[in-house]
Amino acid sequence: MLKSTVEFLRCPSCEDRGKLVLNHQKGDREASEVSSGNLQCQSCHKDFPILGGVALLVEDVETYLCHHVKGISKVVPEQEIPALYREAYIEAKYEWQESAREHFEEDLESERVTALYLMTHYLKASQIHSPSPVIQKVIEEYWDHGPFAQIKSWLKQDRLSVVELGCGVGGLARALESNIERYIGVDSSFASIALARHLNCGVPYPQDSFFIPDDLILGQLSRQVQIPVAVHHHRHLDFVVSDFERPPVRKGSWDVAIALNALDMVDEPKSLAKAQFDLARAGGRVIQSCPYIWHETVAEQLRKEFAKEWKGRGFQSSEIVESLYEKLGLKIKERVDHIPWLFFKHGRQLEVYSVHAFIAQK
Ligand SMILES: C[S@@+](CC[C@H](N)C(=O)[O-])C[C@H]1O[C@@H](n2cnc3c(N)ncnc32)[C@H](O)[C@@H]1O
Ligand SMILES: [Zn+2]
Repeated sequence: MLKSTVEFLRCPSCEDRGKLVLNHQKGDREASEVSSGNLQCQSCHKDFPILGGVALLVEDVETYLCHHVKGISKVVPEQEIPALYREAYIEAKYEWQESAREHFEEDLESERVTALYLMTHYLKASQIHSPSPVIQKVIEEYWDHGPFAQIKSWLKQDRLSVVELGCGVGGLARALESNIERYIGVDSSFASIALARHLNCGVPYPQDSFFIPDDLILGQLSRQVQIPVAVHHHRHLDFVVSDFERPPVRKGSWDVAIALNALDMVDEPKSLAKAQFDLARAGGRVIQSCPYIWHETVAEQLRKEFAKEWKGRGFQSSEIVESLYEKLGLKIKERVDHIPWLFFKHGRQLEVYSVHAFIAQK
């Protein structure tokens, strides 16, 4: 974590959302990067560890460590896990190794999932190849015109402060880098945040090249690609692990609060919309995009909530979501109904989403 990030962070745990103070145990006092140590809330005095440079701003650190063994163990040596949690962590790691369970594509810490996101976030169409003429044509036409390109066209100003909820492997920060004065990305996946920090902040990572799918007979990840790593520490970009429904960052002070393709992953979409609203400064902007692949329980809850005002009209996810944000007091400035968002699963399989996106003002 960058030392300069601390002033923008707040306690995710207490009602006061106390300021955090940094205690670091390792590294040069003068260095801008802290690889291990902790953050302590000045209000409730709770400690949040920094492991492998990643601040874990989560309510229940032990449960987080045990559930994210796979992502953490790749980057953090066991002896660096704080003594308080080490026994539980080692037990969880043992269980994970024993079962050797790869939930394949449901697991957001799995290498295959992070590889698919690395591709959509960092590779250009010219770097993706399919033997299928149809797939290759779709890639050439649409790959470079996804959500990031749209957002870049909306945010032309310089010196923006940006907070991104559910930032994943951090490609939007790179796409917007020249416009950004300060950026913090928040995501619950340790593996994604560690990769985002490596690629954007130039911090070391155990791997120096990445593998993507090609022909599955050769393995899930078989083609090596180079993704340029920031050669120096970008002192204005940082990424932390946390729950985005209670983001651990200063409220009411960001020029732009962004959540891409995350709204349909939460039990209460309204809480993510509210979190974005709270983070934006007065006059600031909120950007949301999503393919709206709702869980049935969430869809049912939204249908109920909007039943009266939507009576006699067909439900449309895009309109319902715009309405959720408008009810908070945001004014939609621009919208795009269909933006292509592509995932290259392997040479013969391309997953195509069409996302709705808007930019709204507080
Ligand atoms: C579908 S991915 C989208 C990633 C990226 N925004 C994009 O558009 O490519 C959703 C992301 O949200 C993160 N996520 C899901 N629930 C979360 C939560 N409650 N708190 C923080 N991050 C969460 C996941 O780890 C994942 O990186
Ligand atoms: Zn606190």
